Amino acid sequence: MIAVLLVGGEGTRLRPLTEWLPKPMLPIANRPFLEHQIGQLRGHGIDRVVLSCGYLAEPIREHFGDELEYAVEPEPLGTGGAIRFAAANIDETFVVCNGDVLTDLDLGALIAAHRDHGARATIALHRVADPSAYGLVRTGQDGVVNAFVEKPPPGTADVHTINAGTYVFEPEVLELIPTGRAVSVEREVFPELVGAGLFAFTGEGRWRDIGTPASYLAANMEWMPAGGLVDPAAVIEAGADVTESVVGAGARLASGASVRRSVVLPGASVEAGAVFRDQVVGRDGRAVW
Ligand code: GTP
Repeated sequence: MIAVLLVGGEGTRLRPLTEWLPKPMLPIANRPFLEHQIGQLRGHGIDRVVLSCGYLAEPIREHFGDELEYAVEPEPLGTGGAIRFAAANIDETFVVCNGDVLTDLDLGALIAAHRDHGARATIALHRVADPSAYGLVRTGQDGVVNAFVEKPPPGTADVHTINAGTYVFEPEVLELIPTGRAVSVEREVFPELVGAGLFAFTGEGRWRDIGTPASYLAANMEWMPAGGLVDPAAVIEAGADVTESVVGAGARLASGASVRRSVVLPGASVEAGAVFRDQVVGRDGRAVW
């Protein structure tokens, strides 16, 4: 099975980190995000990974080399246009993943549901407690998608399932995506498929979009081993306090520094007396957020 991973976005919400490193290469528990995602996909039988790249493609290609395939857009095509461009030569059922979601989704069950329904496209959904911050997906009992509902006012939602950013596509759907301009799969392609072969599958387990500063920190806290993670090539001086945090390679924490529930990025130098709580610390030893 082939998976197309959308990794071409600018990641503006994670600036300034994404000014030099693309979002998919940002470390989560001391490994580039994409390593986690690709490991999960391989574990579910994905044997070909096509990266749909645009913004800052080179650091990704340098890291993964020939292990993956790359479709580099000449200009940003939006999520829909990017799928059409990257999947141009695919003529079998394939998986699409947003390149910024960590999940335990059972991909095999998603693909089986897609086949059982005879679907043209299937969207994985994730159940959330507070749906007011999300675009929601309303489904019928048999999993058919009935409607997309944009961010309802708090307390008013009768739907609690959001688009989890993993899809199964039949190649014929690619023809519905206009060419020559940027196209959003969420806002343009899926609405057109309502009532025309679009189904949903609600996954269980962990799910985390890493795209905002708060969720980037949360992803690290959720994916690190219990208690925290310190790279062997980090230096923690005696008298420094590191609690439930991720510390990257080459980072240095001086005696008297205190870091809790935070991420210290690789190479960061944290001086004596510095205190960080629920923050991400950059190379200059200051909080990025
Ligand atoms: P923000 O600028 O912070 O919203 O981040 P983003 O650019 O990543 O946008 P968003 O989170 O909406 O994108 C969802 C997924 O689609 C991410 O994995 C992006 O890398 C990817 N993506 C968004 N736009 C494009 C595009 O034009 N081309 C490609 N190849 N991927 C895209």
